[in-house]
Amino acid sequence: MATKDKTVWFCTSCGNESPKWMGKCPACGEWNTLVEQTVATGKAPKSAAAASRSGSHRPQPLREVGSAQDRRVSLGIGEVDRLLGGGLVEGSLVLLGGEPGIGKSTLSLQIPLSCPGLKTLYVSGEESPRQVKMRADRLGGDISNCLIFSETLIEDIIAEARDIRPGLMVVDSVQTMYSQGIDSSAGSVSQIKEVTSLLLHFAKSTGIPVILIGHITKDGTIAGPKILEHIVDVVLQFEGDDKGSYRLLRSIKNRFGSTSELAVFEMTGTGLREVTNPSEMLMPQHEQGLSGTAVSVMLDGLRPFLFEVQALVSTAAYGTAQRSATGFDVRRLNMLLAVLEKRAGFKLAAKDVFLNMAGGLRVADPACDLAVVCAVLSSAFDFAIPADVCFAGEVGLSGEIRPVAQTERRITEAARLGMKKIYVSKFSSLDAAVKDGISVVRVADIPALVRSVFKQ
Ligand code: TYD
Ligand code: MG
Repeated sequence: MATKDKTVWFCTSCGNESPKWMGKCPACGEWNTLVEQTVATGKAPKSAAAASRSGSHRPQPLREVGSAQDRRVSLGIGEVDRLLGGGLVEGSLVLLGGEPGIGKSTLSLQIPLSCPGLKTLYVSGEESPRQVKMRADRLGGDISNCLIFSETLIEDIIAEARDIRPGLMVVDSVQTMYSQGIDSSAGSVSQIKEVTSLLLHFAKSTGIPVILIGHITKDGTIAGPKILEHIVDVVLQFEGDDKGSYRLLRSIKNRFGSTSELAVFEMTGTGLREVTNPSEMLMPQHEQGLSGTAVSVMLDGLRPFLFEVQALVSTAAYGTAQRSATGFDVRRLNMLLAVLEKRAGFKLAAKDVFLNMAGGLRVADPACDLAVVCAVLSSAFDFAIPADVCFAGEVGLSGEIRPVAQTERRITEAARLGMKKIYVSKFSSLDAAVKDGISVVRVADIPALVRSVFKQ
């Protein structure tokens, strides 16, 4: 029977499929994101979806489903285990995303090397076995239980893996793999989707966990892991500046644990090193306070940590003042500046304001508002806030300081790291004003904050 080819249009942003070209994706509303792809119909080998349906599964009453805990595999790197919610769940498919060169291959090779009890099949479509060996030598560790397979045809990889039955399979990367059931080239949307579905079916049917690596480009033009997020069980994303040495690994989706957890790594000459206390790297690198800096206590998932907020306020050289923020929402910065102007009378309209979060961190916790406000004022007044003072509070539109989640835990963490004073909202429910050697100052609004922090 002849194979009939069909052309469809995929959105590179959301993966939606349309029968014809359109300027705007009807699903996600993005413009110019549709790309043409050929998909084979007719006598193509059984697709992943069909394969997963062919089993003898029947619907069953929920009450009869066993409620045993998921079996988890430890990956030998404590921070990765923590991020996953206590190890990798058997049969799960984890997508490890990030820009090229950020350290995805390094991390996924470090896992088998630091976990000699785990038989790992490392499939590389990008590097030759010799290149992987050189990297492994550089990283050090036990290589006795790691199998390396240089292959890009996904059907062969799965057949091999079914044969070997490893404890973990790593596939580097989804963009280099292809399925013979699809006619388009490797890295196209239809190939990426098919490869991922086949791997998902493999993981679910064998119980072997799979780590799938996916590249994300800065401009997002190439169809990438974005469209896979709803297929896979867990999405871990590497962030950070590839010039700097710190890398942040974030859990964006996790069917078996909490999201918005964060793990910090440092890229060294011998691979990635866990930074178990991120406050150390994000804290001020100077003894005395400098003007324009303020320390904030942020919460990532369940763990509080401290980091430095830096601001520079200078007279605008041109007509319109510039506002720029790295790692912080610039609209929120504008809102905070407007509050300072309207509620506390600071004239910042004619000033350039630059804001930076230490360590390439991206911050969304509203508790950082207070530190942002103080860093801006500290720079504007050229007044150094002592290095052992920190802040945790949200600023409201009327200039009031609002309580934030888990204030007590933030205070405890600040005290543990040697902070002497912490500013929080007056409205937080706390038992005592002084805890564990740290004095807790409770402020109601911006004028009260300014009086307390910036008095000589
Ligand atoms: P890599 O894991 O190849 O990135 P990805 O798979 O995400 O594309 O990481 C490559 C970068 O890491 C490269 O710039 C070199 C650096 N690196 C080190 O600094 N130390 C090391 O021990 C290793 C293995 C890599
Ligand atoms: Mg790589």
